Amino acid sequence: MQLLDGKSCSEQIRQEIAKTVSQLKADGQRAPHLAAVLVGNDGASQNYVAFKVKDCEEVGLESTTIRLEDSITEQELLAKVDELNKDDAIDGFIVQLPLPKHIDENKIILAIDPAKDVDGFCPENVGRLNLGLPTFISATPNGIMELLRRYEIDTEGKHCVVLGRSNIVGTPMAVLMSRNTNPGNATVTIAHSRTKDLASFVRQSDIVVAAVGRPQMVPGDWIKPGATVIDVGINRIEKEDGKTKLIGDVEFEGASKRAGAITPVPGGVGPMTMAVLLANTVTAACRQAGVDEPA
Ligand code: GUN
Repeated sequence: MQLLDGKSCSEQIRQEIAKTVSQLKADGQRAPHLAAVLVGNDGASQNYVAFKVKDCEEVGLESTTIRLEDSITEQELLAKVDELNKDDAIDGFIVQLPLPKHIDENKIILAIDPAKDVDGFCPENVGRLNLGLPTFISATPNGIMELLRRYEIDTEGKHCVVLGRSNIVGTPMAVLMSRNTNPGNATVTIAHSRTKDLASFVRQSDIVVAAVGRPQMVPGDWIKPGATVIDVGINRIEKEDGKTKLIGDVEFEGASKRAGAITPVPGGVGPMTMAVLLANTVTAACRQAGVDEPA
C-alpha cells in the first residue's frame, strides 16, 4: 500500500512556486497578491484562511485578509467584491465559504471577476473547465489531480466513483476525471445522498473519491483490493479526553489494508488544496501582467 503523502507533495509544489515567484521578482514584477475575505467567526474558516496567509508568506506571495462582521449585508459584501475586482494591487481573491445564511452565496460568486476568481467558482471558470479551456480549477479537485499526477496513478479506463456532488469538489472532480487527459480518461460515477446501494458502486471502483463530509461513512471493507482511495473529508470529532481529532470520510485503518494507494487525513488532500490555490494566484498575476509564467 502506498501512502499518498499530500504534505510532502505540497511542500515540493510550494518550493516550485517560491522559485517562480523569485524569478518573477527578478524580472521586475511585483509579488503576486492574494486576498481572502472572511465573514464572521466560523472556526474552520478562520483556520483555513490563517493557513492560506501563512502559505503565502512562505512562498513570497503578498496576502491580505479582509475580516467582516457576521452582520454584514449582502449589498455591503457585494460592494467589497466590487472593490477587490477593481483593485489593481490584488491579483486574485477568494470569499471563504460558507457565508452567513442571510447572504446568497451564488450572488457573491457571480460578482467575482473571473480573472481574479482563483477558487474557480464563478460560472465562466466552471464553463471553461467543462470546455477544456484555460481557467482556474477549484483548488481541491485540482490538488487531487496533481497528487494523482505526481504519484503516477494510472487512471485511464478505470472506474472512478465520486461520492458527493458539491460545486466545489464532487462535480468538478467528476469532470476532471472523465476528461481526455492524464490523469483522467476514467469512467466516472457520481454518487450522492439518493444513490441506492452505494456499497456496490464503491466495491467495483478502482478509484474512490470521498467528498461527503461524514466521518468514516465508507467502511474499509467496501474498498476493492488495490484501489486508489482519495479522502477529501476533514471531520472534527471529539475524543474521550475532550481533545479534537480530524478524521476522513473513509475508515482509514480497514481501507489502508485493502487499498493500493490512499490519502491520510490529515496530510493528504488538505495540503494539496492549499498549494494549488497559491499556484492559481501566480497564474492570475501572470495573466493580468501579460507575462508568461516562468518555467
Ligand atoms: N470553503 C471550503 N473550501 C473552500 C474553498 O476551497 N474556497 C472557499 N472560498 N471556501 C471554501
